[in-house]
Amino acid sequence: MNVDEAIKRRISIRAFKPDPVSEALVREILDVARYAPSGGNLQPWKVIAVAGAAREAVVQFAQAHLPGADDDRPVYPANLWEPYRSRRYKVGEDMYALLGIGRDDKPARLAHMAQNFRFFGAPVGLFFVIDKGMGHGQWAHLGMFIQSIALAATERGLGACMQEAWARIRAPLARHFALPDSEMIYCGMALGYADMTKPVNTLRSDRASVDEFATFKGF
Ligand SMILES: Cc1cc2nc3c(=O)[nH]c(=O)nc-3n(C[C@H](O)[C@H](O)[C@H](O)COP(=O)(O)O)c2cc1C
Repeated sequence: MNVDEAIKRRISIRAFKPDPVSEALVREILDVARYAPSGGNLQPWKVIAVAGAAREAVVQFAQAHLPGADDDRPVYPANLWEPYRSRRYKVGEDMYALLGIGRDDKPARLAHMAQNFRFFGAPVGLFFVIDKGMGHGQWAHLGMFIQSIALAATERGLGACMQEAWARIRAPLARHFALPDSEMIYCGMALGYADMTKPVNTLRSDRASVDEFATFKGF
């Protein structure tokens, strides 16, 4: 698979087969992703990978700490503006349509949302940890690392879903993993083999065209 193919083939997977993913394979993926760039080569990331009993423990822990709440670093800005507000709405509606969940079926929507905290059935969960003292630059670099993991996973036939949902229980999760006060969890990732019989995994989210986001000068 070439890089273009991996970038285009990677989608968020929200239903997984129970098939296990070995520690060796997760290590192999991380061993590739560590070549992601970061300003000053800080490599401002740490990863906690959970499977088996450790995965089950964090799933159970999450059930006890939900619904959680935004902290001082909410995932989205308040009162999201256009065009971002509509994009967010659209991908949500497209996803719920594939799941067969109606607009007013709040319990079903919440139940789907809760699947985040079971890694959508994936056998492996990753958590991305960053020093609290790091700034927006380092958060961006962490993102490059996370995408690199997703691409390396894609090349190996695995599916992934990045999960900011876990931010809702960031503080309790930090305690669960006994992080020092100086560190925090940015987000999680579900990792495993996609169950492509599930319609939710057919979701193809829209993208703005190049002309909508790029300006070309001096060519
Ligand atoms: C950092 C990050 C966190 C995300 N968190 C969640 C999440 O908690 N739950 C979820 O279902 N999708 C999550 N997503 C998936 C996005 O909704 C998805 O990437 C976007 O709609 C584009 O779709 P695609 O990944 O299929 O291309 C997250 C994506 C990113 C990049």
